[in-house]
Amino acid sequence: MDYGLRERVVLITGGARGIGFEAARLFAAEGAKLALADINGAAADAAARRLIDLGAKVIGIGADITSGAQCAEMLARVEDALGPLSVVVNSAAVLDDKTFLESSPADWKRIVNVCLYGAMNVLHTTLPGMVERKFGRVVCMASDSAKLGQARLSYYAAAKAGVIALVKSVAQEVGGAGVTLNVVSPGATNTELRQEREAGLRASMGEEKYARRVNSVLKMYPTGRIGEPNDIANAILFLSSASAGWVTGQVLSVNGGFTMT
Ligand SMILES: NC(=O)c1ccc[n+]([C@@H]2O[C@H](COP(=O)([O-])OP(=O)(O)OC[C@H]3O[C@@H](n4cnc5c(N)ncnc54)[C@H](O)[C@@H]3O)[C@@H](O)[C@H]2O)c1
Repeated sequence: MDYGLRERVVLITGGARGIGFEAARLFAAEGAKLALADINGAAADAAARRLIDLGAKVIGIGADITSGAQCAEMLARVEDALGPLSVVVNSAAVLDDKTFLESSPADWKRIVNVCLYGAMNVLHTTLPGMVERKFGRVVCMASDSAKLGQARLSYYAAAKAGVIALVKSVAQEVGGAGVTLNVVSPGATNTELRQEREAGLRASMGEEKYARRVNSVLKMYPTGRIGEPNDIANAILFLSSASAGWVTGQVLSVNGGFTMT
């Protein structure tokens, strides 16, 4: 399949690692020009170098998506270095592991600031140019916890539910300008984000209880495994492609059958 991504300029927030970086690898293989933006600028640079070594045109950018000013600077750097932006993947996120009653307003703010307010900053900054040029593809990342709710992830799930509502609403506003917005909603995926959370759970639960947890999680996945970044990145690539121009405002769960709604 020709994704029509050759020479397209693609910005991936949270692109230094995990799903964002795996998507970058697939975009690079399609001949896209890439900007990897991350709050960890050194990691973004290192990730960019890994793709440059494979022959791709890539820049790394240090940017915190909770700041509108940094998002504006990020866009200017992308377009100065690579040209007009066509595709945005907003993968940056942070996670917490507390019950709602254990959490504080400072915890809610930290998560909502990145996961929801950050998505708003990224869209608000990048959409005007795409609307003007009458072409754009935007993919935001949510989570199946936004659909089902999930104990110990309440405010993260609430922020991700907000992302879904944001994307569906804005998709209605800019569809006529050739710009699509969609959401990819991963199930449990084997990235550093998940590994860090699991390491905390393992330490607090002890080996025996943690092994039982791993088994019961796997039972929830009809495909018998959790996801790998590549499973999710392939869905991102399709929704970013020229061929996906009639897909907008959708939430694509990529989750081994964990939810089927
Ligand atoms: N891994 C999973 O199991 C899973 C499940 C459901 C949804 N998701 C979603 O998929 C997306 C990617 O997840 P992942 O597992 O690859 O995460 P990850 O933690 O491996 O990568 C996220 C990246 O975002 C960056 N980041 C954090 N805050 C930022 C900020 N303010 N500005 C810019 N960059 C920032 C981090 O430095 C990191 O490099 C996220 O939106 C996440 O919520 C992941």
